[in-house]
Amino acid sequence: MHFAEAAARAEVLRREIERHNHAYYVLDRPTLPDAEFDRLYRELQAIEAEHPQLLTDDSPTRRVGGKPLGGFAQVRHAVPMLSIRTETDTEPSGARAFDARIRRELALGEGDPPVEYAVELKFDGLAINLRYEHGVLVQAATRGDGETGEDVTQNIRTVHCIPLRLRGEVPEIIEVRGEAYMSRPDFEAYNERQRSLGKATLVNPRNGAAGSIRQLDPAMAAERPLSFYAYGLGEFRGWAIPDTHSGVLDALAAFGLPVCEHRATVQGADGLIAFHSGMREARDSLPFDIDGVVYKVNSLARQLQLGFVTREPRWAVAHKYPAEEMLTTVEAIEVQVGRTGAITPVARLAPVFVGGVTVTNATLHNETEARRKDVRIGDTVVVRRAGDVIPEVVSVVMERRPRANRPGDEPLHPPFELPRTCPVCGSAVERPDDEAIARCTGGLICPAQRKQALLHFAGRRAMDIEGLGDKLVEQLVDAAIVKTPADLFKLGLLAMVNLERMADKSATNLLAAIEASKLTTLARFIFALGIRNVGEATAKDLARFFGNLDALMAADLDRLQLVPDVGPVVAASIARFFAEPHNVEVIEQLRAAGVSWPEGAPAASVSSSISGKTFVLTGTLPALSRDEAKDMIEALGGKVAGSVSKKTDYVVAGAEAGSKLDKAQTLGITILDEIQFRELLKQ
Ligand code: IVH
Repeated sequence: MHFAEAAARAEVLRREIERHNHAYYVLDRPTLPDAEFDRLYRELQAIEAEHPQLLTDDSPTRRVGGKPLGGFAQVRHAVPMLSIRTETDTEPSGARAFDARIRRELALGEGDPPVEYAVELKFDGLAINLRYEHGVLVQAATRGDGETGEDVTQNIRTVHCIPLRLRGEVPEIIEVRGEAYMSRPDFEAYNERQRSLGKATLVNPRNGAAGSIRQLDPAMAAERPLSFYAYGLGEFRGWAIPDTHSGVLDALAAFGLPVCEHRATVQGADGLIAFHSGMREARDSLPFDIDGVVYKVNSLARQLQLGFVTREPRWAVAHKYPAEEMLTTVEAIEVQVGRTGAITPVARLAPVFVGGVTVTNATLHNETEARRKDVRIGDTVVVRRAGDVIPEVVSVVMERRPRANRPGDEPLHPPFELPRTCPVCGSAVERPDDEAIARCTGGLICPAQRKQALLHFAGRRAMDIEGLGDKLVEQLVDAAIVKTPADLFKLGLLAMVNLERMADKSATNLLAAIEASKLTTLARFIFALGIRNVGEATAKDLARFFGNLDALMAADLDRLQLVPDVGPVVAASIARFFAEPHNVEVIEQLRAAGVSWPEGAPAASVSSSISGKTFVLTGTLPALSRDEAKDMIEALGGKVAGSVSKKTDYVVAGAEAGSKLDKAQTLGITILDEIQFRELLKQ
């Protein structure tokens, strides 16, 4: 490509890419499919590689790729970066106090109209000054001490929502001030990845943002993605500035800068209070942390009139919300057992008001996290409750760890260890090597897992007890009528009619359904046990392979792995399940209660009258559903086909059997009704 042609094309590509970038990262409205964006980006990269003279500072290809620095250069701010006064009274009175002060200082009387304010969020990140000359980003600096900050241009270039070039009629010089922050989804994703790599996690999004900005290697900064919201100005030249703060923010948005949509102009104290309380409601659902809202006198002329005290403008205040992180002490560390048996260490805390509620427990997630954070009894810890997430222990204040008062200064308490048995049922706790979560193995008998286990047991693809749903299981377990699946078969009418909302008729129906479920298949029964890692398909394979339950229960790891699709992980889960005496006990009780299935010999040496035979099912059988009949046939090594042919061995026919029955008769195939079919199975 000729130089002139390449130069023109590069310019077109840059504009196109920046326009898409703006739509994607600032407006959150993508205009191009990712693949097309990538194509444009690569084309630009290729042109720039061929003609290095064409590389400009504002090229979108220059966001990453800066070299690691030895240190940050100092930047003297053309206009000092001020801080903002905080109102710590988190109640409406805090807003009234600010409005009263402003009115007094503006010498407004009772009769004067309310003051107009620009209201916005107080972002919880790091203040940054972006300097644009002729619309091109030339420098980004931290606040530092307000007079002098650090040059973090390379890292700021990696922040996708910050334009490298402004749009429209741009001022000769404009400095834009705002907050660089890490969004909650980016924070969670980063920590998730770190956890999976066994690496250190970020304490909170704020620290994540600070750490990212202060990375000397921009490649590392790019790995911790940040976002940015503009909220003010520094130096500017050659610009007709609007007369209000809200007008300034509108102008910044028009230049292509990200300005948070949660802002407004309001009148007087009532307007401030409404915004404060409205945003408090919205706080949990925002994708980033805020620690309050900011009120600014909207008129710039009035701002000038009000001026500054030391480093804080009189015309602005940050009105806080209750903190999302607080210090408290650990009184005990216990473990909780979840509905699926997951064992979670939990810190019992001295009550502390955090994130708007009183917190007495905080999760430590799992054993690895608990040990990494090294939380111990007596420790002073940072507790965090942000959004509607469960409160968590973020870190330990090591200097405050209680220690024995003698030489050596040993900590008073040992590191946390996960118990080996379930605190609820006493069954063994297992934690496969490659998993973070430890689990209780007492699935069938563990009270913590009872409801879940019973629902699974009764499920349509398991024992298929019709009418035994969520609500009923809840009531039966809460009333201590049912503890294990075996108890279901001991239920009497009386116990059930006493339950809330349980009519006579539905109780009778449920009892009938329980009774009917007793005759099942081995595969369904195995599936119903809820053995970890044993789904429906594996249960069928196991039933086919072993033919009867005792053979399965007696199988060792090697033998289990002979089953198709059963590997070491599944085999271990099965072996552990049957090694648990409580589980075996429940199985014995179930058999004693009359739960049964046609047992066969192992598939390896199948010799049932059914094995290898082909069945066709047609019409409606009196008691068996099509699924049930099919399962029974398959459990004994038979096959079920969809249509009748010369290869069909048996046709099982029920009411309203149609053409399949006719065809079977023509071909002279043995036809069975349900009773004859059951007889055959028993042979
Ligand atoms: S205005 C002249 N507006 O809070 C006032 N600051 O001390 C200058 N902050 O670190 C600040 N959100 O980075 C302003 N909407 C907002 C803000 C905000 C967060 C930060 C700022 C600074 C601190 C104020």
